[in-house]
Amino acid sequence: MHPIHGGNLVWAAMLAGCSPQEILDFSASINPWGPPPSAIAAIQSHLSRLHTYPDPGYRELRVALAQAHHLDPDWILPGNGSAELLTWAGRELAMLAATWVLAPAFGDYQRALSAFGAQLQPVPLVSLDQGWTLATLRSRSFPPGCGLLLNNPHNPTGQLFPREEVLPLLAEFDLVVVDEAFMDFLPPDRQQSLVDQVSAATNLVILRSLTKFYSLPGLRLGYAIADPQRLQRWQQWRDPWPVNELAAAAGVAVVQDTDFQQQTWRWLAAARPALFQGLAALPGLTPYPGAANFLLVRSAVSTLILQQQLLQHHRILIRDCLSFPELGDRYFRVAIRTPAENQQLLTALANILGG
Ligand SMILES: Cc1ncc(COP(=O)(O)O)c(C=O)c1O
Repeated sequence: MHPIHGGNLVWAAMLAGCSPQEILDFSASINPWGPPPSAIAAIQSHLSRLHTYPDPGYRELRVALAQAHHLDPDWILPGNGSAELLTWAGRELAMLAATWVLAPAFGDYQRALSAFGAQLQPVPLVSLDQGWTLATLRSRSFPPGCGLLLNNPHNPTGQLFPREEVLPLLAEFDLVVVDEAFMDFLPPDRQQSLVDQVSAATNLVILRSLTKFYSLPGLRLGYAIADPQRLQRWQQWRDPWPVNELAAAAGVAVVQDTDFQQQTWRWLAAARPALFQGLAALPGLTPYPGAANFLLVRSAVSTLILQQQLLQHHRILIRDCLSFPELGDRYFRVAIRTPAENQQLLTALANILGG
């Protein structure tokens, strides 16, 4: 079956005729420099604790995350990846008349909303030459009693929405969930996070992921930032230990790993424009100027043909956008990887497209 998420290496390896380990994966947007040694050391030193249950209050992890955001730990709830917390956000949104979601959007929103019967209302993102805009969302009025599920920076476009454009929406909806899974790829002075608004806006929930920036998707770790009463409710809905001991220990270590954070910001500041320019120089390809660790690219040639040829001749996997009905087969998404790997992608694409 054609995958609906990036990173499906078993499927890719079957098409490429090799083992999953031999695939160069540009389809999942994961930091190529991780996991950081600090995470591995924390996991190793906690292996001896596997015979006990994790602290169900995750106190140490919540304190570390709270310190990173200058918040009280009561405002933080760790989860088994931000995908788990999306499920509980979906349960809250299902209590409202409808939930407005940008289209295109990360496919898991559909799962989380339909799990509890929430009514999903798509709002089209408008494509401009220089990116994508929230204009359709901002220019219309909404019936009372609705929710909004936003993603900033936005997957799959990479668009970063300025805070000033998102903030007025808090007054329009009973609940606003902002998925900031990729926000940490921006250095602190460029982030457009709403984390500092949660204490003033009880109808705001922020979801953050630790799996992309710290390259830990197999470990699973994310967190929600919201009003403590709401988070206590979520805690009662779910199983008592959704985050395992090793993930909790890794989380404490990585949020304090400023060396890894600086290294990632430095790499991305140089690698993103280099890959953007390389893609733009190839015939038929138009990359969008994203703010995260991936780029959305419009292609004159069907992406399915590109994807197949990249796999069969170069063992490279790109993310087609067929699972985003608004985009279809003329768009693909690529993660930004190391300079050498990005060059490998550009050389392979040039080989297929000419140029
Ligand atoms: C926009 C967005 N939000 C959330 C997630 C889930 O991330 P995780 O559950 O690994 O924290 C993803 C994963 O691809 C994503 O793209």
